[in-house]
Amino acid sequence: MYGSDVHVACIMDGNGRWARKRGLPRTAGHTAGEENLAAVVRIAVRSGVDHLTVFGFSTENWVRPRQEVRHILGLHKKLFGRIAELNELGVRVRWIGRPFDDPTARTPRYVQRAIIKAIRDTANNSGMTLTVAFDYGSRAEIAHAAETLRRAGTMIDAESLGSAMYMPDLPPVDVLVRTSGETRVSNFLLWQSAGAPISFSTSAWPDFSEDDLKDAIALARTIPH
Ligand code: IPE
Ligand code: IPE
Ligand code: MG
Repeated sequence: MYGSDVHVACIMDGNGRWARKRGLPRTAGHTAGEENLAAVVRIAVRSGVDHLTVFGFSTENWVRPRQEVRHILGLHKKLFGRIAELNELGVRVRWIGRPFDDPTARTPRYVQRAIIKAIRDTANNSGMTLTVAFDYGSRAEIAHAAETLRRAGTMIDAESLGSAMYMPDLPPVDVLVRTSGETRVSNFLLWQSAGAPISFSTSAWPDFSEDDLKDAIALARTIPH
């Protein structure tokens, strides 16, 4: 075990470039990315990671071509459908994103149903927690938190804002990973990653490996708590 108690958050980028390099459609890159996520979950469990949080689809990603968006939605249904596998690994699934009843939320019903079922059917697992960010954006989350407090007449400060986030019990991020050579945070967990080091990996997400994860965990270890 080299990763116990660590919260690793990944911005899974580079699926499109991975596919283009192989002369494949972007959708094939997303399919490979979902398959690699299943592999990375297994590796993270073996490495003793406590929380793995992944950016699956952002509030900004809806402007992508319809066919690509439809493919990514189908892959999330598949991901949340991996219940037997997750139960075997003792992984508890959670989801973070614009609440389904929020007027701006865009998660379609069939994905909502898959999310709700995965959360329910893995709720008793006590191993790693896998949180999937879908229809997620940090600015939307922080604005939603502020609005919730305003409506309740609660004073807005760092503590009350933190407790009004979508998932207030999500622990602080210990290391933020960005794949595919990009050096942007792209509106992911801005509040929760305030003090986190960032591990930049040149691997495209479908190639993100055990060594890449080890590098990230090692970086998390360099920050005193
Ligand atoms: C990440 O890969 C997946 C999502 C953002 C949904 P990209 O699709 O952004 O891949 P690149 O960046 O175009 O290579
Ligand atoms: C970030 O990747 C979002 C996800 C991984 C879901 P993008 O490829 O959408 O980010 P930008 O647009 O390059 O910043
Ligand atoms: Mg990208």
